[in-house]
Amino acid sequence: MSPAPTPAERADRLRALIRHHEHQYYVLDAPEITDGEYDALVRELEAIEREHPELDSPDSPTKRVGGKPREGFQKLAHSSAMLSLDNALDESELRAFDGRVRELLGGADFRYVAELKMDGLSMATRFQGGSFQLAVTRGDGSIGEDVTENARTIRSMPLTVRHTDAFEVRGEVVMNRRAFERLNTDREEQGLARFANPRNAAAGSLRLLETAITASRRLDYYAYFLLNEAGAFLLDSHWESLEWLARQGFKVNPLRRICASVEEALDFCREFDARRDSLPYEIDGVVIKVDSVAQQVALGYTARAPRWAIAFKYAARQVETVVEDILVQVGRTGALTPVAVLEPKVVSGVTVSRATLHNEDEIARLGLQIGDTVVVERSGDVIPKVVRVKELGGTRREFHMPTECPVCHGHIVREEGEAASRCINVSCPARLKESIRHFASRNVLAIDGLGDVLIEHLVESGLVKSVADIYRLQQADLESLERMGPKSAANVCANIARSRLMPMPRVIGALGIRFVGERTAQLLAEHFGSLDLIANATRDELQAAQEVGPKVAEAIFDFFHEPRNLELLERLRAEGLMFRHTVVKREGGPLVGLTFVLTGTLPNLTRDDAKKRIEEAGGKVSGSVSKKTSFVVAGEEAGSKLDKARELGIPVIDEDGLLEKLG
Ligand code: IVH
Repeated sequence: MSPAPTPAERADRLRALIRHHEHQYYVLDAPEITDGEYDALVRELEAIEREHPELDSPDSPTKRVGGKPREGFQKLAHSSAMLSLDNALDESELRAFDGRVRELLGGADFRYVAELKMDGLSMATRFQGGSFQLAVTRGDGSIGEDVTENARTIRSMPLTVRHTDAFEVRGEVVMNRRAFERLNTDREEQGLARFANPRNAAAGSLRLLETAITASRRLDYYAYFLLNEAGAFLLDSHWESLEWLARQGFKVNPLRRICASVEEALDFCREFDARRDSLPYEIDGVVIKVDSVAQQVALGYTARAPRWAIAFKYAARQVETVVEDILVQVGRTGALTPVAVLEPKVVSGVTVSRATLHNEDEIARLGLQIGDTVVVERSGDVIPKVVRVKELGGTRREFHMPTECPVCHGHIVREEGEAASRCINVSCPARLKESIRHFASRNVLAIDGLGDVLIEHLVESGLVKSVADIYRLQQADLESLERMGPKSAANVCANIARSRLMPMPRVIGALGIRFVGERTAQLLAEHFGSLDLIANATRDELQAAQEVGPKVAEAIFDFFHEPRNLELLERLRAEGLMFRHTVVKREGGPLVGLTFVLTGTLPNLTRDDAKKRIEEAGGKVSGSVSKKTSFVVAGEEAGSKLDKARELGIPVIDEDGLLEKLG
């Protein structure tokens, strides 16, 4: 046995481990351990640093949580101006740029690198002696603000790198759509104004004096430019620089391409214009750069921008239109959402005639009245929203939240500290329709064919008065409805019957408990194992589950203490829905009794695919290597698990080896 490590050795080891797992999670999106295991490592390191302050270091991953509030930001000059880029607003402008490059390079061969233009804010970062030193916002291009402590909280920012000479990296700070939506939902609940878009949210979050709040905002940093320090080292091409940055641990967008001609660059632009909505973050165009550093130097700069790069801008997703009316929709929880009825306009190929206004406060913030001309923005696949009032209407009319539900005429209340007004009638048909729609939706119980029109008919005809009633529907009931043939009626019935087999996390999701989405439902199921245990848990017991804080615990607790919800629960139980969390294991299979650990990137299979296939073949996948591990499957850039496997003498196989075992 080797002697127990000294605190200094253990701290070093923990930092290396935490860095590795942060890189896997935040940069590569390929976690190897659970969140709980990760937290345990951080807590152990924190304890050592507390007991041995001499071992503490600003590079330590524990410094990502943010310290004391600060007075303000110091102004700092950039090492060289942070220029912006010239824009190409259409294909002919991009071809014209290509013509200029071609001419200036005197007919020499060259190629481009096309990258996504991330919609955030640019930030310069400096590294020296292998560690993160400084982060400065763009500011006016020559002078920015020192946001080092805030940038340290960005999980995808490497705090240590292998290269020890000084270098500077420039990149974009962004907030992805999910983090943005979550932040706005939280703000709405706290009665705060929503951020208009992820870019504003990212900028606001980076410049907070309270670093701990920045840490909670889940920003991301994508590196896109390596400044070559005078003489220290010089890479020959932009592409190589990006690959070098990725090897140093930076997050570099993998959606990039070498293009041999402007036509190939245009293909890239068109391809990502079409995919724009499905990306997890917002982009506003594509940046096209001459790849060779020597050619970049030859092309040089104008006063404003490099001559070797250009931003191909996508069409704005904003239009101006008139708000003809404001309607009120009733959601699943009874929340009333005001919706602007717009004079229809086409925005990048889609006709927009409605836009959400979220709540009364939002209307007040916009200063909007019916009849005003507004700017409406479509972004991602979210419902269009009103950005601002452009011009006051000649005849304008103020909007007032109704005092009774527009659907059931029930009572409306707006609780203290809540942004939303709610219809409190639990059997309001509008709430019922929304509940069924949620119940049947793809990520919940996935009942194909139970769409809006059918739901409308089912509720209006009185066939369905509670969500549970859908399990009582007979084929004949459905056939009696308008536009329902025997075949589709049979299909819907079969799909309803099949939904009884959906695993328990889906059932939890179907209940529509506030704040309980897919992930929380999964974590609750794993922690409690049965719906009854969740229903009977105290607030404290609920909080013992991963990622369940006081607010979520309260919402779950309240849900299961509402008699009508318990009634629904009993009916669903009687219908045979899954109230227990059973991990379905196949009997037999070639890998029964074997435990695998995955590490590194496999050439073809994603980690999820590999895991699924192993489990389908009866094997188990574990997050860490131990004596019980049967095989370690190692791909490229395999990490510490590979070392551990060698240490313990566990056989190591590659993807081919795994496929062979899978048969
Ligand atoms: S290159 C000299 N690459 O777009 C190099 N910029 O209008 C200058 N941006 O200020 C920047 N994604 O904030 C570059 N892949 C990318 C980018 C990108 C977003 C932003 C950046 C810059 C602005 C230029």
